[in-house]
Amino acid sequence: MNKRFTIGKFPRTRLRRNRQSPWCRNLVSETNLSVNDLILPLFITEGKKITQNIKSLPSVQRYSIDMLLKKVEEVASFNIPAISIFPYIEKKLKTFDGKEALNKNNLVCRAIKEIKKNFPNIGLICDVALDPYTTHGHDGILKNNYVANDETVEILSQQAIYQAEAGADIIAPSDMMDGRIGVIRDRLDNEGFNNTIILSYSAKFASNFYGPFRDAVGSSLSINKSDKKNYQMDFKNSDEAIREVAMDINEGADMVMIKPALPYLDVITKIKQRFNIPIFAYQVSGEYAILKLGEKEKVLNYEKSLFENLISIKRAGASAIFTYGAIDIAKKIK
Ligand code: PBG
Repeated sequence: MNKRFTIGKFPRTRLRRNRQSPWCRNLVSETNLSVNDLILPLFITEGKKITQNIKSLPSVQRYSIDMLLKKVEEVASFNIPAISIFPYIEKKLKTFDGKEALNKNNLVCRAIKEIKKNFPNIGLICDVALDPYTTHGHDGILKNNYVANDETVEILSQQAIYQAEAGADIIAPSDMMDGRIGVIRDRLDNEGFNNTIILSYSAKFASNFYGPFRDAVGSSLSINKSDKKNYQMDFKNSDEAIREVAMDINEGADMVMIKPALPYLDVITKIKQRFNIPIFAYQVSGEYAILKLGEKEKVLNYEKSLFENLISIKRAGASAIFTYGAIDIAKKIK
């Protein structure tokens, strides 16, 4: 970022002058949030006519595919450009190796086909990782109690192919294995999907804010005695995020994700200063739940606080934001 030093002295300079009225504040505002910046994450479940509440994630539901289509219609009506989908996999389909991820006809692949058939103009982002499918809840396969990197990458690249085949527009590996972007890019290209976009979760931190999400996809119980610290980033680091992003760009990532968002604004800014690549940020489930619970306890105004959070994320340098509040905020800024 360029450094400009503008020197002014009171009383000739009064910074409050430009803040006097809404029209003036609008003229000088440096950051704006538009509906074009929003991505709504959605949870899907097996069955018909199902809408399920998620205990730790207030105001967010899981939908069976038929109900999901109604929700996507609502998303489309607000011109929100994209959604991302996450499956709640039935217990009986979870295995130690997560092989349901490689079922061409699994819940996610069926949902992709239905969404693209009915809403060809909505961007569809699909998570690549094994956590919804494994009995232990880790993002990859376990060998001697360690997530085996290269073996996992093999499986993830196949998962990505099936999602691309079903019609996913953006493949989003959220697993933090080393080298997966390059392998996935090569496989996509070899199989004729050279236009499928890769959004790499490049700097995904081993965060305490993912709890409600793990409830939502049903991976929490299995992971409780464990954590993801030997593959997700240590939240004490930010230089390391630069290396992660640099490697992913070299491997062919089209966009990079920083996640969570609000506790990592410095990381967003650092990446923005060093690279010319679209940066996405994920306002994760815990960040969102705090706002909702704050509203319930009457300690804050949910809508205004959500807006402020999202503006902060944009001000830091993000070009798009995953938020469970996408529809609420679209209503407000419409
Ligand atoms: C897992 C995944 C997680 C989230 C998105 N993909 C959780 C995790 O890494 O355990 C979290 C999103 C949220 O908390 O809203 N691949």
